[in-house]
Amino acid sequence: MSPAGGATTASAGAGNGMAPGQVAELTHRDFQAIAAIMHEDARIALSEAKTTLVQSRLARRLRKFGLTRFSDYVDLVHSDAEERHAMVVALTTNHTHFFREPHHFDHFRETVLPTLKRKQGPIRIWSAGCSSGEEVYTIAMCLLGPDRSSASWLRHADVRLLATDIAPHVVESVQRGVYAENVASGVPEPYRSTWMRPAAGGFQMADEARQLVTAKVLNLFEPWPLKAAYDVIFCRNVMIYFGDPAKEELEHRFVEQLAPGAFLYIGHSERLIGPAAAKMRSCGHTIYHKPESRA
Ligand SMILES: C[S@@+](CC[C@H](N)C(=O)[O-])C[C@H]1O[C@@H](n2cnc3c(N)ncnc32)[C@H](O)[C@@H]1O
Repeated sequence: MSPAGGATTASAGAGNGMAPGQVAELTHRDFQAIAAIMHEDARIALSEAKTTLVQSRLARRLRKFGLTRFSDYVDLVHSDAEERHAMVVALTTNHTHFFREPHHFDHFRETVLPTLKRKQGPIRIWSAGCSSGEEVYTIAMCLLGPDRSSASWLRHADVRLLATDIAPHVVESVQRGVYAENVASGVPEPYRSTWMRPAAGGFQMADEARQLVTAKVLNLFEPWPLKAAYDVIFCRNVMIYFGDPAKEELEHRFVEQLAPGAFLYIGHSERLIGPAAAKMRSCGHTIYHKPESRA
């Protein structure tokens, strides 16, 4: 944890009476108050090892309000719901990239896609904790396939990809579907040249991909406005931020939301715990299958 006394130098405090390069002190007590809100609102577990990260990420929020003390900022978030949410969002980690953990997409293309193509009726896939959309558009490109002819099956299928995240700014990125050149360069050929177009700011996902995706702000610990049973859920590198009770609860809800025969992909360092572990069958590293029948 950071020392309780003494200022650190993670960010500028110019304009509020602090020396440039100086940032407000974050005491143990203020850290605990912030960690309690993160847990209450998003079930994110912040250990004291994250003190410097919290301090530097929130420095901008303090500057916005001309505050020099975290204790004043903590008072503010306790009385201002909008700023409280902005704080929670500022403390989320949104790192992601296209074709992350590629063995998941090999499995998806080789094992899941053929069954989806044979399926009669709606196909529903959810990227839960989608960040800026690289995950959901990777799924979309796998469905579309390597060339335009491989996408023809989608003309006769009812396919929807849902992408949700607690952070509104990343959900807006999904809706725009525009990625900087260095980000888009992570998309292998021929997917990139087939499903991404040069655009201001880099590359935009083709209409065929964007039309498949609906992006929404959703806190995973609030009620889910989902009617359908899902064929596939990706919830990767999200549950690492939660404690075990929250993981157990969320995994159980995912399993309940999946149709029999459906698949769940979780992040490389995650595992199923609690009732979900008993109900799902492992079929690859961090890939799970819901049996057709629970008998
Ligand atoms: C590290 S990103 C993972 C992105 C993508 N799934 C991947 O694996 O590349 C984690 C995302 O989870 C989101 N998140 C964290 N807590 C959440 C919650 N309680 N409800 C919804 N989303 C949450 C964060 O905003 C962040 O965008």
